[in-house]
Amino acid sequence: DWTMGDYKNTAIAAIREKVGDGKVLLALSGGVDSSVAAALLAEAVGKQLTCVFVDHGLMRLNEGDEVEAAFARWDINFVRVDAETRFLLKLAGEAEPERKRKIIGEEFIRVFEEEAKKIGRVDYLVQGTIYPDVIESGAGDAAVIKSHHNVGGLPDYVDFKEIIEPLRLLFKDEVRQLGRELGLPEYLVSRQPFPGPGLAIRIIGDITKEKADTLREADAIYREEIAAAGEDKNINQYFAVLTNTRSVGVMGDGRTYDYTLALRAVTTSDFMTADWARIPYDVLDKVSTRIVNEVKGINRIVYDITSKPPATIEWE
Ligand code: XMP
Repeated sequence: DWTMGDYKNTAIAAIREKVGDGKVLLALSGGVDSSVAAALLAEAVGKQLTCVFVDHGLMRLNEGDEVEAAFARWDINFVRVDAETRFLLKLAGEAEPERKRKIIGEEFIRVFEEEAKKIGRVDYLVQGTIYPDVIESGAGDAAVIKSHHNVGGLPDYVDFKEIIEPLRLLFKDEVRQLGRELGLPEYLVSRQPFPGPGLAIRIIGDITKEKADTLREADAIYREEIAAAGEDKNINQYFAVLTNTRSVGVMGDGRTYDYTLALRAVTTSDFMTADWARIPYDVLDKVSTRIVNEVKGINRIVYDITSKPPATIEWE
């Protein structure tokens, strides 16, 4: 009977046959789909593959290192672009959610294009499209509430012969299984969704490096405590949001006037609708105590108890 191991071997053989001695380019986001597609291509064509990982500086804590470490086992061309300064400069002073998304999407393409030019000839471009994306994109975008820049048309900013979409027939849980089969670490394979624009849409209002660092620290504590409590098994997506509200607090003998951090956690089957997660109070308490004690600039924590609809999962 059929196993994911068989699928892996068949896919690798088919990729080798198609690619021959061609050069392959892949934009690696660090999400499940692009990571599994990258691992499959790495296994199939090794050095003929270049993965470009653009770090826009709005990733979660240690995310870039984790992604890089996961691919160390393959002999491929792994290009990690530290583009934090570039992105922050472009985003400076911008507070409107859709404009932030647009700026990041455009800058991403620019960086990727520059890297592609350095490689020279590209024969194949790999995309981590999975089966649900194929269905969804057929539905048109009449009802777009937020633009998701990872679901788009054909890229026209790199010259190539053909697109390879090796995950096109797989559902999400099959993609994860294939990733395990290929030897990707569990932290990549089972990770929760993370939006392309990253922390940019979790910092309400304008973005600065200080705010991004603050949010990164708080978010890491939140995720650590949720995992330590075993609650990650019950929750489909959870993250912290840095609001642009400041409020008065007391610390020692002094008055503080710092930011309010919001915690979000949802249960959902398709991310189209979602319910807020009933995280045990003692877990919330631990998270709150740790964040206000350990993260400078935050003196108040609130928990988001709205479902989708009417709220969305992200705050922007
Ligand atoms: P919302 O906030 O619309 O989110 O309820 C639904 C799911 O989509 C993710 N999301 C994004 N993903 N680019 C992405 O790649 C985006 O701009 C974006 N906005 C939201 C969100 O994290 C959730 O999983």
